[in-house]
Amino acid sequence: MIDKNKQKMLVESALSVKQNAFAPFSKFQVAAALLCDDGDIVCGVNVESSSFGLTICAERNAITTAIGKGKKGFKALAVVSRGAASPCGACRQVIYDICGNIDIIMADDKGNIKDSSNTEALLPKAFGMKDLDIEG
Ligand code: THU
Repeated sequence: MIDKNKQKMLVESALSVKQNAFAPFSKFQVAAALLCDDGDIVCGVNVESSSFGLTICAERNAITTAIGKGKKGFKALAVVSRGAASPCGACRQVIYDICGNIDIIMADDKGNIKDSSNTEALLPKAFGMKDLDIEG
């Protein structure tokens, strides 16, 4: 697990962009901050659509943005929301596929860390590239 200072830094980064979330339908704003192996932090927020199924979660937004920036390895992800929600099932799969077994920190909208875990604990016995005989 990354140290407390790094955890707090990640949560602060997520908090700083949370107001950018586009969540007019659910009114549930989420922000995620992804710590990359090179030390950079890449953030994302949830972006909703009137065609609800097209909504993009904050976690996947952070991950796809990081990939677009050329980031290759990842250490930890902080997720900030009302009630310190943990990543949805779809995001857990994408976190596993792209980031592997990283630390995952859940904080409420005041920045209080309520829970910490990792990908393997949140998505046990995951399906992945190994099942397709592809090296990750
Ligand atoms: N949401 C996320 O951004 N991440 C999650 O892991 C759970 C759900 C968003 C999607 C939607 O905009 C709102 O929260 C309510 O589901």
